[in-house]
Amino acid sequence: MTDDTPTSKPSSPRLIVIDGPAGAGKSTVARRLAEHFELPLLDTGAIYRTLALVARRRGIPWTDGAALGRLTVDFPISFKTLRDDSAAASSDDGSGTVRQQVHFAGEDVSVAIRTPAISEGSSRVSLHPEVREGLLGIQRALAAGGCVAEGRDMGTVVFPEARDKFFLTASLEARAQRRHAELASGDAEVELEEVLRDVERRDQRDQSRAAAPLVQAADAVVLDSSHLDIAEVVRRIIEIIETREA
Ligand code: DC
Repeated sequence: MTDDTPTSKPSSPRLIVIDGPAGAGKSTVARRLAEHFELPLLDTGAIYRTLALVARRRGIPWTDGAALGRLTVDFPISFKTLRDDSAAASSDDGSGTVRQQVHFAGEDVSVAIRTPAISEGSSRVSLHPEVREGLLGIQRALAAGGCVAEGRDMGTVVFPEARDKFFLTASLEARAQRRHAELASGDAEVELEEVLRDVERRDQRDQSRAAAPLVQAADAVVLDSSHLDIAEVVRRIIEIIETREA
């Protein structure tokens, strides 16, 4: 049975894609949207991170595109979403109530993939066309039932057919400050200056690579979060999507 009332939800699985550079707030925005629309999250950066981690453990250099490409052929990655409904978790501090674990071959690698070394490795492995090609099918399969997908090339390469594409950006300083605050809320002790240099180096590499560089899709809505708080960015995105569906 088809439902052609104008307010009906899209008949194909709902796909919302968020691209943008490191520290623009994509993860928080994607998490909030996933909560709002009751969709799974697809953090594609976590897939590149896991590849970098597994390669390092197996002694495969981050520069060896062919070997890294072979590694993607059998790549048992999965995501597990945990909901925390406690009052503390739902406080309005931007943290949201959904947390995600990343598993590889049954092991929870969520913490191991967030180190500075693996951040650097993920950016390096992502340069290789063999890697990008190998991870394409994995990302599409994980998104098959609909999701909020975040990364660098969601709207341009992985899901070009998505209707709801957003490109989230912010000044280098604002993004470095956000990353620094995130790291400081964990155990890591890092200088703001070091985070700024790290973000700048990754930006440069992500934007200048030949294969699927970080660029905004022509049909993406661009939102600059330098002077907008994350809650406002989320509110605007929800409004845009709901207006399209009204
Ligand atoms: O979003 P993140 O910081 O976890 O991503 C880590 C690296 O992975 C990033 O520097 C570039 C790469 N990446 C990519 O090339 N394409 C994506 N869709 C997602 C991440």
